[in-house]
Amino acid sequence: MYLGIDLGTSSMKCLVIGEEQEIIHSVSSDDIPLSNPKSGWSEQDPSSWIVALDQCMLRLKEKININDINSVSFSGHMHGATCINKDYEIIRPCILWNDTRSHQECSEIMTDKSVMDIAGNIAMPGFTAPKVLWIKRNENKNFNKIYKALLPKDYLRFYLTGEFFSDLSDASGTYWLDVEKRDWSTRLLEASSMNISQMPNVCEGTDQTGIIKKDIAEKYGFNMKCKVYGGAGDNAAAAVGLGLYEEGDASISLGTSGVIFGSTKKFLKNYDDAIHSFCHCLPNTWHLMSVMLSCTSNINWFINTFNSSIDEITKFLKESISSDISMSNSPYYLPYLTGERTPLNDPHIRASFHNMGIETDKNTLVYSLIEGISFGLFDNYQALSKTGIKLNNLFVIGGGSKNKEWIKLLASILDRDLAITEASDAMAAYGAARLAYLGFNNLKHQDVLKPPLVKEIIKKNNNTKSILKDRFDSWKKYYVK
Ligand code: XUL
Repeated sequence: MYLGIDLGTSSMKCLVIGEEQEIIHSVSSDDIPLSNPKSGWSEQDPSSWIVALDQCMLRLKEKININDINSVSFSGHMHGATCINKDYEIIRPCILWNDTRSHQECSEIMTDKSVMDIAGNIAMPGFTAPKVLWIKRNENKNFNKIYKALLPKDYLRFYLTGEFFSDLSDASGTYWLDVEKRDWSTRLLEASSMNISQMPNVCEGTDQTGIIKKDIAEKYGFNMKCKVYGGAGDNAAAAVGLGLYEEGDASISLGTSGVIFGSTKKFLKNYDDAIHSFCHCLPNTWHLMSVMLSCTSNINWFINTFNSSIDEITKFLKESISSDISMSNSPYYLPYLTGERTPLNDPHIRASFHNMGIETDKNTLVYSLIEGISFGLFDNYQALSKTGIKLNNLFVIGGGSKNKEWIKLLASILDRDLAITEASDAMAAYGAARLAYLGFNNLKHQDVLKPPLVKEIIKKNNNTKSILKDRFDSWKKYYVK
C-alpha cells in the first residue's frame, strides 16, 4: 500500500492506494486552525499539522495495517514560510500562501528586473521569499535565527524522516528557484538576504527523500523500511492524481483558492497578469497556473456570517439559475476577501457587494456570491488563455466540484463544457499517493499515469450566455485600483 498525505489549508487528508492504484481508504482531520491577526495576514501554527497527522494516522490505523505501507508522499498548500532554528524548533507561526503583508518586499526583490527572468514570475506577496524578507525587516531577531526555511509539507517530511527536501513544483513558489534550470538560484536567494545552506535539497516528486524515522515508525506503526518520496505542491499533486502532464492537460480547482492549471512541455516565462510559471513535479515538465486567492473561502465566509448552509446555497442557486429575471436583477459580488493574485496582483483590494436594492434578499445575494466567484475564475481563465496555452478537457476538482449547480453556472460563464471524474475532491491526496507508488516501484510516469475516466460532462447553458456576458462586463467595471 502507498500513502498520500495532503496538508490542506483547513484540513488534512490521508489516502491509501493499492497495487492497482485503487483507493483503499481515506481519512481526514478537519478544522486546522487559521489565524488572521491583521487584515491581509494569514498564519498557522505548524504544530497543528502534527496534531492533524496524529488524528489521521489514528483513524487510518482503525481501517488498515499501517505496517503494510511501502511508501509515503505528500501534497501541501504552497508558499508558506515555515522557519526553523538550529535546534529544529519553529521560530514563529508559518506565514501562509494567502497572506498579503509583504507587498513592499516584492517591489524590493524586483528592483533588479533580471530576477524575473530567473524566477519566471513576478514576485507576489504569496511567495515565500518576500515573506522571509518581511520577517527580516519587521522581526529581525527571528530572521537571524533561521536555520532552514521550509514549505509546509516539507516540514511534515522533516518530522517524519529528519531530512530536508523540497520537490521542484513546490520549490517554484518560493521565488528562490531558477525555474528553467530546476535548481536553487544564488541570485534569487541573495535578493531576499538568504543563502543556499538555508534551503532544503531539491528533488523531483518521485525521488526518494529518506525513510520514516524509528521513533515515528513506532509512534504510528510504520515498518522500519517505509520510504518517503518527494511529493508536490497541492496543484501539481492534484494534476498527478488526474494524470495531467501532457501539453495543455488542464484542471480547475475549486478549493480555498481557485486555480486553473495547464501542463507545459517547456518553461514559459510569463510575467503578465500575475500568471504563475512553475516546474511540474515530474521530470522535464512545467506548468502555467492562475491563482485566485479566495474561492470557496467566500462561501464559508457567507455561511458563517449569514447563518447559511451549503444546502441553502445550492437551493437558492438552483432557483436563480432557472429564472433569468432573478439573475439579471442580482447585485454584483467581487470575491477579493484577502486581496487577489491573478490577474490583478492587488494585495489591497477587498470583497464587496454592489448594486443592492430594496428587493435584494438572501436568495439573490447567494446567486451574486457564486456568480462573483465564477467571474473571478473567468478572469483567471482569460488571463491564462492570453499566454497562448490551449487547455484540453478541463477537469473540475476540489471541494466545490461536488456542487453541480455551481459547475453548470461556471461552464456557461467559461463558455465550455467541464469534466468531472471520481474522487474529484481528493485529487491532491490521490496524486501524493501516486507519487509514492511511482517512486517506490521505480516506474516512469508516462507508463503509469493515464488520463482519468470522465464521470460526467457538465454542459454549458447557451440560453444564459448573453445575460452572463453582459453581467461579466458590468462586474469587471466595479474593480478600480
Ligand atoms: C498556489 C497557491 C494555492 C495554495 C493553496 O500558488 O497559492 O493554490 O497552494 O491551495
